[in-house]
Amino acid sequence: MIFWRIKPLDVILSPSEQKSLHRSLGAWQLTLLGIGAIIGTGIFVLTAEAAQKAGPGMMLSFVIAGFVCAVAALCYAELSSMVPVSGSAYTYSYAVLGELIAWMVGWALMLEYAVAASAVAVGWSGYLVGLLRGSLNWSPPVALTEGPYVGGIINLPAVAICLLVSVFLLVGTRESAVFNAILVAVKIIALTVFVGLALPHASLDHFSPFMPLGLEGVTGAAASIFFAYVGFDAVSTAAEETRNPQRNVPIGLISSLAVCTVFYLLVAAGAIGSVGAQPLLDASGQAYAPGSAGLAEQCRNLLAENNRPLVCSRDALAQVLRQTGFEQVGNLLGLAAFLALPSVILMMMYGQTRIFFVMARDGLLPEPLSRIHPRFKTPHVVTAVTALGVTLAAAFLPVGKLADISNSGTLFAFMVVALAVMILRVRDSGRPRPFRTPLIWVIGPMALVGCFTLFLFLPPVAKLVFPVWSAIGLCFYFLYGYHRSHVARSESS
Ligand code: ALA
Repeated sequence: MIFWRIKPLDVILSPSEQKSLHRSLGAWQLTLLGIGAIIGTGIFVLTAEAAQKAGPGMMLSFVIAGFVCAVAALCYAELSSMVPVSGSAYTYSYAVLGELIAWMVGWALMLEYAVAASAVAVGWSGYLVGLLRGSLNWSPPVALTEGPYVGGIINLPAVAICLLVSVFLLVGTRESAVFNAILVAVKIIALTVFVGLALPHASLDHFSPFMPLGLEGVTGAAASIFFAYVGFDAVSTAAEETRNPQRNVPIGLISSLAVCTVFYLLVAAGAIGSVGAQPLLDASGQAYAPGSAGLAEQCRNLLAENNRPLVCSRDALAQVLRQTGFEQVGNLLGLAAFLALPSVILMMMYGQTRIFFVMARDGLLPEPLSRIHPRFKTPHVVTAVTALGVTLAAAFLPVGKLADISNSGTLFAFMVVALAVMILRVRDSGRPRPFRTPLIWVIGPMALVGCFTLFLFLPPVAKLVFPVWSAIGLCFYFLYGYHRSHVARSESS
């Protein structure tokens, strides 16, 4: 019975299983890795979509999404301290819930990491275009900077950044981590400057009406803005390359999430308070859906009257500063996003390659994917495959849809992690837990219910993509991994 094809924790933790990834990362580097993976398109770009869904109530959306992530992170931290090897939720589910669920989680994580990398690349492209317009007064042709969904042909800047980041990954983690640390600093400085300039211009009037689209709008925005918090689990995928992972991985997870939550709330308050964040409504009083043709047309009309509401922006934070009278600082913030968002792409692709790598090492994906480059010591085949998928999605799809699709996979993986941590408390209560989730019987169910609720509030397309993607994954599993699985082979021998 495949549900019971479990890979015992002792086997996962045995040194012979560890295929020579170099242990070079400490707690500080992991926290930077986490912040590098977390702060990105979510806050820099999707703030505009959240405003269209919830108005100023998006402050609550940030709190809801941050809360769900925090409880999920606490569950993650317990498992990642117990099983400090690569593969995160995939590896944990293999040990607790068996191969079939593990496969489905690994497959869902492809949505999380690879699709998120594409979403961030598209967000980056929006900032590049805004920067060229703001500083050089030059608008590159839409055909080459947008996908077909808004009248373009291909998003070439997004393609270029995906390929560049892939080269960094191929060359190796250590170099990538240094590159990441510099860009994290740039992001933190940019957000700090934003808060410092926008908050003093805040007016309480802009917060009213606070929830123009009600609680439903707020929860819908939380489901989308959840993307802004995704990435903290990239820390746990680096466990196998971490020194003293039992201590350092939980520290990295929790502290990176805490830093980001504080920044998000301040940034949201600054954006709403300084320029306002009311959604655009159609003639019947209904809010336009973000990314819809109706909203795009309405935005074009307003732009012609030189009116630029937040909800129409593709480079939201830079635009807020420009509108508040800080034209040049707005351009500088655009430059910071331009420089820093690639670190998020890097972390997302990094997470994806490591999960592919572990799945291939387990025999569930073709063996060549687990090959390690003799000189760079990185899984180069898997990196090339990931680069191809991420680049194609970024070339043709819109940022909001990519983010929502990514969320659907992430929420599923988080639910499984919450379940796994509770099952393990009962089934293997004596095993050492360097980090114990506090109040697990409160936190665990909250993570489960919170993730499920957010999933329900995702837009219909994202909710549809997930089961279709899972069905494709199941076919692949029964045609390939089911027969090749190393666990199955060792059981039968
Ligand atoms: N949290 C990451 C971002 O917002 C994925 O870009």
